[in-house]
Amino acid sequence: MTASVRVCFFRWKWIVYPLSSIFEEFAIKIIKTVKEIQTRSEMLRKEGRVISFVPTMGFLHEGHLALLREGRRLGDDLILSIFVNPTQFGPGEDYESYPRDFEKDFELARKEGVDVVFTPTKDELYGDRFQTHVALESLTKHLCGLSRPSHFKGVATVVAKLFNIVKPHIAVFGQKDFQQLAIIRQMVSDLDFDIEIKGVQTVREKDGLAMSSRNAGLAPEQRKTALCLYSSLVKSRERIQEGEKNASALIQEMKVYIISRFETEIDYISICDPDTLDDVDKIERPVLIALAVKVGKTRLIDNMIISP
Ligand code: PAF
Repeated sequence: MTASVRVCFFRWKWIVYPLSSIFEEFAIKIIKTVKEIQTRSEMLRKEGRVISFVPTMGFLHEGHLALLREGRRLGDDLILSIFVNPTQFGPGEDYESYPRDFEKDFELARKEGVDVVFTPTKDELYGDRFQTHVALESLTKHLCGLSRPSHFKGVATVVAKLFNIVKPHIAVFGQKDFQQLAIIRQMVSDLDFDIEIKGVQTVREKDGLAMSSRNAGLAPEQRKTALCLYSSLVKSRERIQEGEKNASALIQEMKVYIISRFETEIDYISICDPDTLDDVDKIERPVLIALAVKVGKTRLIDNMIISP
């Protein structure tokens, strides 16, 4: 055998590899262009490999890592995208100040066994003549969709684009963004994307605060206050399990609890049907309680499914 080839048992088969490609196999690849990742994914699909995909806006935390682990478990090749998508931010929202740290993300991705990080520029994805959007009807007319009217059009459009670019078999999303997950499932079904969508449970800090890239924007006092989202959900769960059935009474209790906290501003608190997101008056079946609250300038969301 020459110095430049080697026979090895690799990824379930014996293969004669040039040494250079062994190193390539272990290296995490950064891809910035649509063409390059499409070509790579087509090749992987032809080889019969299962591609799993985790789309993110970066600034990775334990919640994202749980998605990556699920993706790693389910697929042969794991692709992570990092793209702070401008079209899902409304005027005056935090697109410019959204936290970014590519070096750290890259290191975390490497440790989680990501094969490819796709990180396109804004121009690569949208150019300057972009004019097609994906807009859903009823699911977007609830919860975050009410106060962020163009948000889910931006999310659905970019996720549809990413699906066409990355060509995954499986895509993994967090349940913390419950409405986003519902919208993506609906879009996948309506537009016949041949992709399996996996939802992963919200990962929480030790005290219960849902992990979010935006938590980094909280000052120490605000970080303490932020816990009121989770505590109000826990209190409501107790009240429902004690027999409370009146949704508006519960919402009122949550409001009083939250606005008594330092620097809070409630965007919405909703008790709704987990499938349609329509408001529920009487709690007789499992319900979704979802809320969005600003703590200082940081907008946080959380949710819980609760059975009576
Ligand atoms: O959840 C997110 O981080 C984003 O909304 C997503 C799905 C990556 C689309 O930009």
